[in-house]
Amino acid sequence: MRSWEELENACMNCYKCPLAQTRTNVVIGDGNRKSKIMFIGEGPGQQEDLQGKPFVGPAGQLLDKMLSSIGLDRSKVYIANIVKCRPPYNRDPEKTEQEACINFLRYQFLLIRPKILVCLGRIAAQAIISPDFRITKSRGIWYNRKNCDIIATYHPSALLRDESKMHPAHIDFQSIQQKYNELEQTNEQ
Ligand code: URA
Repeated sequence: MRSWEELENACMNCYKCPLAQTRTNVVIGDGNRKSKIMFIGEGPGQQEDLQGKPFVGPAGQLLDKMLSSIGLDRSKVYIANIVKCRPPYNRDPEKTEQEACINFLRYQFLLIRPKILVCLGRIAAQAIISPDFRITKSRGIWYNRKNCDIIATYHPSALLRDESKMHPAHIDFQSIQQKYNELEQTNEQ
């Protein structure tokens, strides 16, 4: 797959896992395809499934606020998910479903070539950083793979459920802002 068109066609015509049977829309991604920073969630929820866009429900509204708190918005970042179809009742995507879908994310990564990846929550961190990643223990730590800086923070839905996670999430977002600004400065030189 070498173009967005090919990727979109492949996603729309994908029936590799059972999530295809219950989806309304395939949720491929949203934002700036030339961005240097990419945010990865878990999978579409109800609103995302209905609208065909990632993070447009309550968790998305919080994500927008957190992006705005560090001077970013959807015109500056790219947002995608580990699985592109909604798991029924918002359950965690199964390993087999993640495996069936992960190549689409790899192609997205190759098309965008971001310099910073932000994993939102455990599912994304385990799929991207390490299968035994523990979000409470290892959030906020920077990793580097293939010249890309990677960090995990709490999923916005977890922040909606547990207010005490908000402060550490803000610290992570400040660290993300710093990394992003450093990148912008080196690009300007
Ligand atoms: N939660 C996610 O992980 N992704 C979305 O797109 C929406 C909610």
